[in-house]
Amino acid sequence: MANSRRKLIFNIYIGFYCSAVIQICICSQFTSSSIDQFNKDRGAFPVAINGEIFPWHELRLPTMVIPLHYDLFVHPNLTSLDFVASEKIEVLVRDATQFIILHSKDLEIMNVTLQSEEDLRYRKPGRKLTVLSYPAHEQIALLIPEKLMADLRYSVAIDFQAKLADGFEGFYKSTYRTLGGETRTIAVTDFEPTQARMAFPCFDEPLFKANFSIKIRRESRHVALSNMPKVKTIELEGGLLEDHFETTVKMSTYLVAYIVCDFNSVSGTASSGVKVSIHAAPDKWSQTHYALEASLKLLDFYENYFDIHYPLAKLDLVAIPDFESGAMENWGLVTYRETSLLFDPKTSSTSDKLWVTRVIAHELAHQWFGNLVTMEWWNDIWLNEGFATYMELISVNVTYPELQFDDDFLDMCFEVIKRDSLNSSHPLSNQAETSTHIKEMFDAVSYKKGACILNMLKDFLSEEKFKKGIIHYLKKFSYRNAKNDDLWSSLSDDCLESDSTSGGFCYSDSKTASNTLTFLREKVEVKQVMATWTLQKGIPLVVVNREGRSLRLQQERFLNGVFKEDPEWGALQERYLWHIPVTYSTSSSNAIHRHILKSKTDTLDLPEKTSWVKFNVDSNGYYIVHYEGHGWDQLITLLNQNHTFLRPKDRISLIHDAFQLVSAGRLTLDKALDLTRYLQHETSIPALLKGLEYLELFYHITERRNVSDVTENLKHYLLQYFKPVIDMQSWCDEGSVWDRRLRSALLKLACYLNHAPCVQKATELFSQWMESSGKLNIPTDVLKIVYSVGAQTTAGWNYLLEQYERSLSGAEKNKILYALSTSKHQEKLMKLIELGMEGKVIKTQDLAALLHAIARNPKGQQLAWNFVKENWIHLLKKFELGSFPIRMIISGTTSHFSSKDELQEVKLFFESLKAQGSHLEIFQIVLETISKNIKWLEKNLPTLRNWLLISI
Ligand code: BES
Ligand code: ZN
Repeated sequence: MANSRRKLIFNIYIGFYCSAVIQICICSQFTSSSIDQFNKDRGAFPVAINGEIFPWHELRLPTMVIPLHYDLFVHPNLTSLDFVASEKIEVLVRDATQFIILHSKDLEIMNVTLQSEEDLRYRKPGRKLTVLSYPAHEQIALLIPEKLMADLRYSVAIDFQAKLADGFEGFYKSTYRTLGGETRTIAVTDFEPTQARMAFPCFDEPLFKANFSIKIRRESRHVALSNMPKVKTIELEGGLLEDHFETTVKMSTYLVAYIVCDFNSVSGTASSGVKVSIHAAPDKWSQTHYALEASLKLLDFYENYFDIHYPLAKLDLVAIPDFESGAMENWGLVTYRETSLLFDPKTSSTSDKLWVTRVIAHELAHQWFGNLVTMEWWNDIWLNEGFATYMELISVNVTYPELQFDDDFLDMCFEVIKRDSLNSSHPLSNQAETSTHIKEMFDAVSYKKGACILNMLKDFLSEEKFKKGIIHYLKKFSYRNAKNDDLWSSLSDDCLESDSTSGGFCYSDSKTASNTLTFLREKVEVKQVMATWTLQKGIPLVVVNREGRSLRLQQERFLNGVFKEDPEWGALQERYLWHIPVTYSTSSSNAIHRHILKSKTDTLDLPEKTSWVKFNVDSNGYYIVHYEGHGWDQLITLLNQNHTFLRPKDRISLIHDAFQLVSAGRLTLDKALDLTRYLQHETSIPALLKGLEYLELFYHITERRNVSDVTENLKHYLLQYFKPVIDMQSWCDEGSVWDRRLRSALLKLACYLNHAPCVQKATELFSQWMESSGKLNIPTDVLKIVYSVGAQTTAGWNYLLEQYERSLSGAEKNKILYALSTSKHQEKLMKLIELGMEGKVIKTQDLAALLHAIARNPKGQQLAWNFVKENWIHLLKKFELGSFPIRMIISGTTSHFSSKDELQEVKLFFESLKAQGSHLEIFQIVLETISKNIKWLEKNLPTLRNWLLISI
């Protein structure tokens, strides 16, 4: 029955249909030259699943045949949870060939036919092709009886079907519960980086851009969405409907998207006339309004900023109930995890608002950086992700200045420095071949380091020149692909788009010769400078030595956990050299001095005598600074005398660099701790929070290791030192963003440290909330704190779990789940893990964050780790190797370890995984992190203990 229905569909929609099962025969189909090739090097070719030789042995597709256009028809069945589909791919043959290699994964291919242009013209039926499949490379080969001729076009028609995928990739199912308790299913795609091949056979590499015409068949209770606006809907016999969408612009396969769902939406129109809609499950419709406001503002911003129209007539943003990452930038149909798009004024905090704004800003930036201009290959994914992350800063600062995103951006750079100062880091542009490697490229380095070095470059070139350069890049490479060098040339080339350029000259440019020379020099410079940041891994340390008016600068590779006196230090430094755009300010003027440090050492002369020098002004540079001699003492004195002589970001960077230098064995911990003493007078909240962050970190380290004397003294110190500002905090949502974040951070700390007034107030609010059956509105800034205190009793914990099931707000659910994970009862923590594994009450998409949260709880760290070890196989059934959740689970449950026994245990586990064939970059990162933690404690615990003794 099902089969005959499928046949009928194909008869209607393909125009030709062959019912015979594909015959797999290869021998007769090869010409003498192909056979020669085989005979020459038979061993080099893999074997297809039917035992025949597969004619292609590389992971990357050949370029003899390229796609021009896909006609794609898809009919998902949300009851039987499968789909039938067909496609016609128009291809151009660049070099004569006898086979076409396509990507295809887990698809049942039923029929393949080929038509030449002539066949099409004379309406000749397609010739049936033999299909070979090589799953290890996720490829199929279509064997052509007669050679395809160069420079001709052909049309390949494929009928195929599959189950809707179980996980989060390809064309998969997602479910949600309505307020009435009904479970509903939707079907949604998520393709990046290499999963379009799970939904339709295709040339699944970013360079193979094509146009797509998509048709979706659905039931009338659903709607279908795709990249483009709908052209028409056809009513079919039996009540089914079929939506036809406009043909897309030229784009990569990973950006194709379609959804069949029963969501509701809100819409608005951007200044340019683009229709923007936010879609969510019907009961969550009321949480969509902020996203609409933000996406309209941000779309307007980008269209103006890039001076390039968003090329589609509509933009849909959809909150998907089951989503692995945070969001995905499919052109015209951006998909989001619910917590990345929905905003519930009752339960979303100020940080939640910033997150939603950032994610929208990020994905909309991709509509230009990534969609319009795409990296040639995944090795340069930073061109997509680094840029989108950088554009978050530019766009949010303008559209939502009150969110004060600047300081968060700085924090993001600090986060990636931690990772990039380990030897296991990798260059921004990094080789990536297998799907696992490609997935691993979506990491902190690509996103955060990418964004931070772009910010540094902007600071170096000037905002105006940088903007002009990236607009030039976007215009020049529109609907095409680009690589690093293309970006650098656009950034050093200040020709206008209309100017003709050759060899670095702008012909319409009337600049004088000397100006042209400057321009040429810069052209070389940008590329030369940036190559040192993208092609080599790591971060430099600039060591400053001041003698009178002379500044001696020295650069080396900054290594966290490797000391200069360690034997391996020397080898780890070899051949590392950056072109560092250094900036500095001095006590004598407000001027920002600039210099490019291109050699290992250099000397600068100050124009006048100054009492202090601060390098890396506003922390725009991606480097750490060490002040030798009395440098740090002078800066500490300055902070204590009047910290406002330095700009707030400079104070933050001093705190950051000082503690990093402690980890690298260059500064003693007591010196860095002494630097934080001025914080009592600190007027900038981000700076205050930066200092607090380190002190809290040390508390957590010693607490986990059960170093009770130090833990107690640190608690004492924190509560005593920050008491005035803790006591000032109110329990409401008033003030600026940073006032509110300070409130959340301080009260969280105070309650965690069992500060009586805090626990009392939180307990009181929690009881009132329970008594009101969850109806009382608790201020969002303190919601997580109140829940966490409430979760410490069994009644409170159980009640929270009930509320978790009931809540329709992702923001609230996240807070409850965090609170539940702070319980001191292991059986409760185990119950959470079981619920997460079951995937009903706690969705699989939240499992990684849950395990991470439980591992952060001293009472849960061993439990989470043991669970991961014992259930690795089950976890791999839920998430792909190399995916973000797998990496989060591994690092989240291990990287806080700090003893030799733990290191050994983790090592053994990783060895066993490697023996089973799982190799991940994260293994090395974790091992290095644990070794670094061990070393830090060995070296610094006695210092911390003594410092506390004299400080409390
Ligand atoms: N392009 C990514 C989505 C993605 C992530 C695809 C990983 C393949 C692998 C998207 O633009 C993205 O970067 N999403 C982020 C959110 C963003 C605000 C940092 C994410 O999912 O975490
Ligand atoms: Zn992105």
